[in-house]
Amino acid sequence: MNEYTLVFLKPITLRRGLVGEIISRFERKGLEIKALKMIDMSRDIAEEFYSIHRGKHFFKELVESLEGNKIIAMVLYGRSAIKVVRTIIGSTDPIEALPGTIRGDYGLDITENLIHASDSRESFEREVRILFPELKLEHLNT
Ligand code: CMP
Repeated sequence: MNEYTLVFLKPITLRRGLVGEIISRFERKGLEIKALKMIDMSRDIAEEFYSIHRGKHFFKELVESLEGNKIIAMVLYGRSAIKVVRTIIGSTDPIEALPGTIRGDYGLDITENLIHASDSRESFEREVRILFPELKLEHLNT
């Protein structure tokens, strides 16, 4: 079934000039880009986005890696897009991520693991409201 997912490219991906490389992997797979924008991440947005990780040992470093930096956020659409995108990006820890996946091919750092993607419909709905508050989902298909 066709569905939406949210992806954002972390500041390291912009610093390393891997934006085009990564977006092209999604396009080649056949996923449709429904929305895309650059965002200046504030501490408030970063903390809200990752609020489920508040209290974990990596939370502070995670928020600091985003705060004051630019990200590129996208809404992608296609058949089982949530699962497909998570397969393309690979395991959270680049040490575990298989070669051929984005995290497997381009990095080693777990905090700056290049990219984030929604892990469920519920996560997508929460995350899209935070990063694309102006977007009405019913307008995505027009
Ligand atoms: P992401 O998929 O964006 O979701 C949570 C993020 O927390 C994760 O990618 C990593 O950037 C970061 N993180 C840092 N350390 C860990 C860890 N030990 N386990 C999970 N996520 C971590």
